[in-house]
Amino acid sequence: MVNEMDFKDKVVVVTGSGRGIGLRILERFYKLGAKVVVSDLDAAHVEEVASKMGDRAIGIAANVTIADDITALFKNVVEKFGRVDIVVNNAGITRDTLLIRMDEKDWDMVLDINLKGAFLVTKTAGKLMMKQRVGRIVNISSVVGLTGNAGQANYSASKAGLIGLTKSAAREFAPRGITVNAVAPGFIMTDMTDNLPDAAKETFRQKIMIDRFGEPDDIASAVLFFASDEASYVTGQVLAVDGGLTA
Ligand code: NAI
Repeated sequence: MVNEMDFKDKVVVVTGSGRGIGLRILERFYKLGAKVVVSDLDAAHVEEVASKMGDRAIGIAANVTIADDITALFKNVVEKFGRVDIVVNNAGITRDTLLIRMDEKDWDMVLDINLKGAFLVTKTAGKLMMKQRVGRIVNISSVVGLTGNAGQANYSASKAGLIGLTKSAAREFAPRGITVNAVAPGFIMTDMTDNLPDAAKETFRQKIMIDRFGEPDDIASAVLFFASDEASYVTGQVLAVDGGLTA
């Protein structure tokens, strides 16, 4: 089915796409003909990543927690490409520690980037998509948003909140032809998981039915499905892509 997907001339914005899962998602859309926007914190870096990808890619720096950045991001996208078809809320961070040791600033920072960031992007992109009467929004949540996780109270709360945002936005936007879905990754090999202690990695590994850690491509495949015509009757859903970790 994936081979039949065609994103020719679709305009795709992925937040936090300077590396990791976000970058892989954009590369996959690009291969299938989309016009893509690399967006992340560092301007020089996003421009470099976009220029390596090709002439249908542009880089626009934006911090998802700053409303003015998000307004400027989508203004820029519309000036350059005329519209926005697919938005992926992917920017995210962790600041892990046990709850009783967690600083207020680490709570606020994780909630700000992972949840408020997605709200600002969804609000701004949603307005444009409502006028177009078509659009796709895919949010990158996490399996810990479904199960919770010791040491990740802030992160789990942000990712559970993102599921609430997904389902509410799906209800508000469905009459205007916009779908909103979430992917909940399990353990995916990126910079985010790279520095976990080996013992923690092994504990996860033993719980994964499909005996390997996930790759950014595993998440990109689920995002492509939600963004494609194949998923035109699917909204408000959360798909765990975790090798069976939470099944
Ligand atoms: P990563 O750390 O490799 O990439 C995250 C990107 O987000 C970075 O390029 C970073 O600069 C960007 N970013 C951070 N703060 C930002 C801000 N304020 N504004 C704009 N961009 C910002 O992480 P990875 O693994 O690629 O994660 C991508 C998404 O997938 C995140 O939302 C993460 O929570 C989620 N996820 C990852 C899992 C994993 O095992 N790697 C598991 C479950 C969910």
